[in-house]
Amino acid sequence: MKNSTKYYLCQKCNFETSQWFGRCPNCGAWNSLLSQDISNKISAKIQKDELAKPISKLKFNINELRYQTGIVEFDRVLGGGIVPGSLILIGGEPGIGKSTLALQIAQQLVDKIGKILYISAEESIRQISLRADRLSVNSEHIYLLSENGLEKIIAQLKEIKPKIAIIDSIQIVNDSNTPSAPGSITQVKSCTSRLMEIAKKDDIAMIIIGHVTKDGGIAGPKILEHIVDTVLYLEGERFQAYRLLRSIKNRFGTTNELGIFQMESVGLKEVANPSKILLSSRSEPIPGTVTTITFEGSRPLAVEIEALTSSSYLNFPRRLTTGVDYNRVSLIIAVLENKLKIQLQNKDIYINSAGGIKISEPAIDLGIAVAILSSIKSLAIPLDTVVFGELGLTGEVRTVSLCERRLREAKNIGFKKCIIPLENGKQFSKKFEHLEIKTLGNIGDILTILKE
Ligand code: TYD
Ligand code: MG
Repeated sequence: MKNSTKYYLCQKCNFETSQWFGRCPNCGAWNSLLSQDISNKISAKIQKDELAKPISKLKFNINELRYQTGIVEFDRVLGGGIVPGSLILIGGEPGIGKSTLALQIAQQLVDKIGKILYISAEESIRQISLRADRLSVNSEHIYLLSENGLEKIIAQLKEIKPKIAIIDSIQIVNDSNTPSAPGSITQVKSCTSRLMEIAKKDDIAMIIIGHVTKDGGIAGPKILEHIVDTVLYLEGERFQAYRLLRSIKNRFGTTNELGIFQMESVGLKEVANPSKILLSSRSEPIPGTVTTITFEGSRPLAVEIEALTSSSYLNFPRRLTTGVDYNRVSLIIAVLENKLKIQLQNKDIYINSAGGIKISEPAIDLGIAVAILSSIKSLAIPLDTVVFGELGLTGEVRTVSLCERRLREAKNIGFKKCIIPLENGKQFSKKFEHLEIKTLGNIGDILTILKE
């Protein structure tokens, strides 16, 4: 029987085939198929302490076993801190601040937990130490290494025995046993799997940095998501100061958490009160803008929605959204046309969430609807008003979850009036003394309420 066969793997799209082609049948890339070996030798012997154990005999408390960085935004996104021996992938576009964040984490942790090894495969020691200087990272227990050979990296890990290793970035790391270029799918995958092994065996938490490019040209962190324990993405507009850290996958906590930072001359700073930064500093109410309260993970956020409507000269009027879901907006426009009998079919409509922050929660439906109405009727919504609620196809304004926490957030920021779903209002109108709570059960009543 054959125990070794060959197959071919496309380095661009991960397509597998048993036959070689000059051009990948799946993605059309030229010369991208590389031969791979499947060898299925089972020659392992099991040591006694490697044997599978009954789960009842294993007692670990996940809360005790975490390295807390003290950077609250980061710890929360991770679900309480870094779990020893875990693999954390931080993805993001080049220049967004991944290396900066990693160095800051190292500085925060080193005094508490001991040695940290920062392996930079793409920058020289001089470049990293210049950045470290800027960030006042100067502990003698943070070790720097500029290396991209996987074998050498592993040897250093064995020698230095750090508690945390930072690999910056995985796309440059090269395993000489794998016959493809650094950054290709095969390389990135096999290097990560090898590092994973070391992480679990030697209890070294690893922070792996991966670049994503807008066109996805290089093998990005996407293909690693199923290998690692936690996937974080650092995002934000490069020319704006805000950076959002999002957890996409977390084996040790909830996902959908969001951490907000601001890039300053001394590195990333936590933003303690994100609602404030997401509200523009208007001093007068302007038609077309309204504030809503949404949830990002476990945290309420006040976000401003802007709408602009203008006469269209196109056969198909333009509908553009930034930060909010396009289809959801189309649905809200249809409900407004149908239930309020207003003409929108000859209007271009643009909807923005302030700061471009992505919101996917239906609780902002009412906010979007009010922003559109406010723009089209030139009706300015007072600055001290927040609006939230989910919109049904019949025009019904449905209850939203976590209403009490939304109202509390509104109150804390200093809002005075809230327009919320009828059912939610019944529950909470007495609880918040300093908030004037108006309720509605159907979108048909919104104009009366806005004009009051
Ligand atoms: P960097 O961490 O190098 O990004 P990445 O590793 O994701 O490629 O940071 C990139 C940008 O951050 C760079 O353009 C300069 C800016 N920056 C600051 O504004 N302040 C700082 O203290 C540092 C270190 C960087
Ligand atoms: Mg970097």
